[in-house]
Amino acid sequence: MSRFLKLALLASTMASPLAAEPLGLGRPATPEEVAVWDIDVRPDGLGLPEGSGDVATGDGIYTEKCSACHGVFGEGAGRWPVLAGGQGSLTDARPVKTVGSYWPYLSTVFDYVHRAMPFGDAQSLTDDEVYAITAYLLYLNDEVDEDFVLSSENFTEARLPNEEGFVPDDRMEIEFPAFSKEPCMTDCKPEVEITMRAAVLDVTPEETAAKEAAEKAEAETTEPATEEAASDPTTEEAPAPEEATAEETPVEVAEAPAADPAMIKAGEKAFRKCKSCHQIGAKAKNRVGPVLNGIVDGPAGAVEGFRYSKAMEAAGEEGLVWSHDELSAFLADPKGYMKGTKMSFRGVRKEEDIDALIAYLRDASE
Ligand code: HEC
Ligand code: HEC
Repeated sequence: MSRFLKLALLASTMASPLAAEPLGLGRPATPEEVAVWDIDVRPDGLGLPEGSGDVATGDGIYTEKCSACHGVFGEGAGRWPVLAGGQGSLTDARPVKTVGSYWPYLSTVFDYVHRAMPFGDAQSLTDDEVYAITAYLLYLNDEVDEDFVLSSENFTEARLPNEEGFVPDDRMEIEFPAFSKEPCMTDCKPEVEITMRAAVLDVTPEETAAKEAAEKAEAETTEPATEEAASDPTTEEAPAPEEATAEETPVEVAEAPAADPAMIKAGEKAFRKCKSCHQIGAKAKNRVGPVLNGIVDGPAGAVEGFRYSKAMEAAGEEGLVWSHDELSAFLADPKGYMKGTKMSFRGVRKEEDIDALIAYLRDASE
């Protein structure tokens, strides 16, 4: 047998359950010996030794044995840990975590001091001294008065302020199952409906168009002031007569195309383009754009609670009414019709669609 094989065999016997059998060394620990190690104290008080101590006694012991490192008032000397204060600092960028601000249970304080302090001379304190120091730490954290006495009797009544700040770790029950499902990678939705196209919604800033508009605006400022609400002079189909100021424009209901169900239907279809921003009907709410109830032949910029652009606000103040013609011109080219409107919409190209839309807006109004 090679040396290597012997070693491998030896390793396998050691790893086998046989090796866990008593090796015939030592003896079981006695209850007394276990008791020396078994000093943990639980939040419900289990493991607490009998005894008591008051704040004043704790003050004396603390000053002598702890203050050199933790400061006379628990403020921490130099870079030694702070034991008092810091309440309300846990959400700060640099939280001060102390017995008063952070620790959940008084049993942890008792256990820690009992087990590990004073640093370098651990477990030299008597049980009563630990009670007294624990009472004093409560006092330093403004949790008790100076005549407070802590004992094995009232210990579990004392509560630290941040107890509720600790919650059981339920990630294995709550989060793990939610995130360990097989993720869907193909055909996850039975059908996909495209309700809007980015080009129609006009979400992409058009740099060149914006530049042109700015140049045009600059050129315009050198010309005599133009009526804000007037139609774009470049749209030949709808030339605005000079005298057609809003106040004088009669509301021409008769001019509106007769409400024909097929037309309303077509308008409803065309309104899909508007739906991403506008609502209409009984339950309509202002969205990106204002509610459109009663908009046809209604005043511009007048929907309550909607923040219009300055341009729309001004047009409304000047008395613009959304007559069939005004609305047609606006819908055909919102930005051309009203410089500065915040309706980011390219415009409806076909006149028949605009007529249908207006018929629908009338019909669907509440
Ligand atoms: C020689 C310096 C020194 C002395 C004296 C000392 N401590 Fe400490 N104490 C420390 C150090 C260092 C730590 C941090 C230990 C660690 O993080 O492992 C600490 C930690 C603590 C903590 C936990 C602080 C925290 O928020 O993590 C408490 C409570 C405490 N000490 C209490 C006491 C008490 C009560 C005494 C007196 C009986 C005492 N200490 C004496 C150095 C000292
Ligand atoms: C990308 C969002 C968006 C789309 C799409 C949109 N609008 Fe608008 N609309 C607005 C905003 C924003 C305003 C307010 C304009 C202002 O304050 O300058 C507005 C204003 C209006 C007004 C004037 C309302 C008033 O109270 O004076 C009407 C009428 C109108 N839109 C109709 C339509 C119609 C019809 C469509 C579809 C063809 C449409 N809009 C598509 C955002 C949109």
